[in-house]
Amino acid sequence: MDSIHIYGGNFLRGETKVQGSKNAVLPILAASLLVKGTCVIKNCPRIADVYHMQNLLQELGCFVTWAGNTVTVNALHVNDNRMSGESVTRMRSSVMLLGAMLGRLGEVTMAYPGGCVIGSRPIDIHLSALRNMGVEIEEQERLFTAKAKRLQGIELKLPFPSVGATENVVLAAVTAEGTTVLEHAAKEPEIEALCGFLKAAGAEIDGVGSNKLVIHGVKELHEAKYTVPSDRIVAGTYLTAALAAGGSIFLENAPAGQLGALLAVAEEMGGCVTVNEEGVGIDVMHRLKAYPYLKTEVHPGFPTDLQSPLMAALSVAQGKSVIEENIFENRFRIVDDLQRMGAEIEVVKNKAYIDGVETLKGMHVEAEELRGGAALVVAGLAAEGRSIVRNRHFIERGYENICKDLRNLGADINIG
Ligand code: EPZ
Repeated sequence: MDSIHIYGGNFLRGETKVQGSKNAVLPILAASLLVKGTCVIKNCPRIADVYHMQNLLQELGCFVTWAGNTVTVNALHVNDNRMSGESVTRMRSSVMLLGAMLGRLGEVTMAYPGGCVIGSRPIDIHLSALRNMGVEIEEQERLFTAKAKRLQGIELKLPFPSVGATENVVLAAVTAEGTTVLEHAAKEPEIEALCGFLKAAGAEIDGVGSNKLVIHGVKELHEAKYTVPSDRIVAGTYLTAALAAGGSIFLENAPAGQLGALLAVAEEMGGCVTVNEEGVGIDVMHRLKAYPYLKTEVHPGFPTDLQSPLMAALSVAQGKSVIEENIFENRFRIVDDLQRMGAEIEVVKNKAYIDGVETLKGMHVEAEELRGGAALVVAGLAAEGRSIVRNRHFIERGYENICKDLRNLGADINIG
């Protein structure tokens, strides 16, 4: 069965290692297309989205091999510039191949990456930025073709600090003619990781970690080795599990420096946070307080990807909390299932009003997307009795082994 079975209501205790970052490794795999040779990428999570990106690279002519969590990509012979509709629409982050393919071959035809349940997820900011770099884009019904004889470095300010659009501009700019100055760039840690990989391959990028990136185009990139950082959203998800179920856990390799917003919320709620060079720990020995008002924002604000997992924890906190979701238009999908588990939540437009209850009760629920699915697992850990979370495949898109990790933390959880 494609499900996860949880017997909740117990404190969590233990420690587990945090996997490599999905949202860092996907653009890095796309970037390996720019290297006419071999790149070695370490600490790659074995998750569905990475396997999907591997298939896309192989469709384009790359050789991709695994050894443990190390992926080797040989992109010497990239010979195809068309990406079939099915493979692109199955994972919207395939849109990152756009900038890399333009940098490598100067042309790419691909389907519009679909929206998903959390939002329509257009790519207008990507396309308008690339047009400014001299890319001709011919849009058809379901496909579009992007062409550029020579990508031109430009000065550009994004209308919104879109993570994906920033990644596509960087991927197109690193081997463009001249210098690109990108203002109002996203500064999520995954952008820093992408720039780290590209600089290891010889790219010249200044301003990494800020919202103004200056990319000096180079003739070509060379072979590189790079280690993917730990996944801040996976670490954050496990921290919300402790906030929801209580207990004392330690997350080895958790990127504390990227979790500031969540750690501040956890402490405000009454959790006792420990940060050291090995990772992040949290002790939750009593029922936590509500968090009066939480807004999701671009980095370094509270990440939208942890909004649903935190909602599960706030459902059993003492008092009233409000969550305002500002990044995606439809990211309260788990409210119905949480209500069925006994949570008291009301949604008005982009705000969720939560009145914390003493306990949730185990229920059969259904994941509809990645982070919502993980949030239902968090809720199951706090709920009395057995919960079954169906559609495990959504969760496996981003969590290498959520059941093993949470069992390491003392949870009674198995795949069903
Ligand atoms: C990345 O998506 C992440 N995915 C998302 O994580 C994350 O939620 C998001 O950034 C925000 O942090 C990957 O890195 C693979 P955006 P992305 O472009 O690049 C709108 C997860 O769970 N927008 O910053 O798609 C868009 O609709 C996933 O791991 C436009 O309107 O995010 C959204 O409302 C979910 N036009 C907002 O901006 C555009 O051209 C943020 O999108 C582009 C975006």
